[in-house]
Amino acid sequence: MSEVNFSKRVLSIEPSLTLQISAKAKQLSTEGKDICNLSAGEPDFDAPKEIINATSEAIFDGYTKYGPAAGDLELRKAIAKKLQIQNNLNVKFENIMVTNGAKQAIYNLFQVLLNDGDEVIIPSPYWLSYPQIVRLAGGKPVFIDSSSEDGFKINIQDLKSKISSRTKFIIINSPSNPTGRVIPKEELLQIAEVVREHKNINILSDEIYELIVKKEFHHISLASLATDLKERIFIINGFAKGWAMTGWRVGYLVGQKDVIKASSALQSQSTSNVCSFVQRGALEALKINQEFFLKINTHYDSRREILYKGLKDIKGLFVYPPNGAFYAFPRLPDNLMTSVDFCNRILDDYGLVVVPGKPFGDDQSFRISCASSKEKIIDGLSRLKKAILKYYS
Ligand SMILES: Cc1ncc(COP(=O)(O)O)c(C=O)c1O
Repeated sequence: MSEVNFSKRVLSIEPSLTLQISAKAKQLSTEGKDICNLSAGEPDFDAPKEIINATSEAIFDGYTKYGPAAGDLELRKAIAKKLQIQNNLNVKFENIMVTNGAKQAIYNLFQVLLNDGDEVIIPSPYWLSYPQIVRLAGGKPVFIDSSSEDGFKINIQDLKSKISSRTKFIIINSPSNPTGRVIPKEELLQIAEVVREHKNINILSDEIYELIVKKEFHHISLASLATDLKERIFIINGFAKGWAMTGWRVGYLVGQKDVIKASSALQSQSTSNVCSFVQRGALEALKINQEFFLKINTHYDSRREILYKGLKDIKGLFVYPPNGAFYAFPRLPDNLMTSVDFCNRILDDYGLVVVPGKPFGDDQSFRISCASSKEKIIDGLSRLKKAILKYYS
C-alpha cells in the first residue's frame, strides 16, 4: 500500500489522549467491567425544554435553509444585548458572529489574524485545543507555567518575559478548563496593563464557562475593565456549557468589526452558517431567566464541594480549590508515573476514568469532573483513594 503524503498542517496535530482513554473505557464497559466515568467535559442534564421546543418549532416554521455566514441578524442582535446588559460591554451586532461552537470562533480568529511564526502566549495548564488551533494557523504557542500552590496565578513577570517582537496574542480562560480557576479582577487589570504597553498584542478571552461559577464568585469580562483596549480584545463564548447545548454547536466570536467581517468571509468559504433552526434555539436560550442558572449553580456548588473535599482528604494528592466550571486538577504525589500511565492504570485496576494532565500542559496532574451525580463522584473518589494508597505508599 502506498504511503499517504499528509500535509505539514495535519501532521502538526497531536492525537487526542482523551479520546484514546474514553475509547478504552467504552471497550472495558462493553466487556462488563464496572466503570465510573469522571471525565465528562459537558453538563449531565438536557437543555431546558423551552429551547428544545423553540428549535423543533423552528424546523416546522421553515428555518431550514441557508442563512448568512455570520449568523442570523436577530441572534447577533440578541447576543449583543446580552453582552451589553450582563457583561457591561459596548458592542453592536457588527461586533459579533455566530460560529459552530466556541471552538470554531477560536479557529476563525487565529486563521484571520496569525501569520506563520506569530507567537501566542498560553498560560499553563490550558484547554488542550489552544496550542493545536494556534499551530494549525501557522502560529507558535509559547507557554507560561503556573503552580497549583500559587492557585494557578498568572505570574506577570513571567508573562512579560515571554513577550517578543512576534507575540500576537495572549490567551486567558476564566473560569478555566482544566483548573476551575476564576481569574480575580486585580490580575485581569495587570494583564490589561501589560497589553497596553505592547501595541501589537491582542487578547483572546475564553469565557465559555462564565455562567458556571461558585456562589461568592462572579465572572468579569476583561473587556469591561479595559474599554481602551476594545479593538484588541476578542471574546469567545457559546451555549454549550451554560445551557447544556454541547452537541448543538453554537458559539460566537466578539470583537473589532473588520475582524468579524474577515472571519465571516472565512466561514462563508468553509462551513457557512451554523444550522439555521439551532440558531432559533440559541435565541430562546438567551431568554432563559436567572433562576435557571441559580438552580444549576446550586447543584454544581455542592458537587464541586464534595469533589474538592474528597480530593483534599486523599493523602499525597495536592488540589487547589476550583471556583468555577466543573473540574478539579489535582497533582499526583510524584512524577514517577506519567499522567497518561496513571490514567490508564487506574482505569485498568479500578475502572475509574479521569483525564491525563499531559495535553493540558502538566504531566503530573489529572482532570476530574463533577458534571456527574453525587453518588458517582463519591464512588469515583473512593476508587481514587484506594489507587493512590496502592500506587504511592
Ligand atoms: C475552555 C474551553 N473553551 C472552548 C471550548 C469549546 O466549546 P464548544 O463546544 O462551544 O466548541 C471548550 C469545550 O470543552 C472549553 O472547555
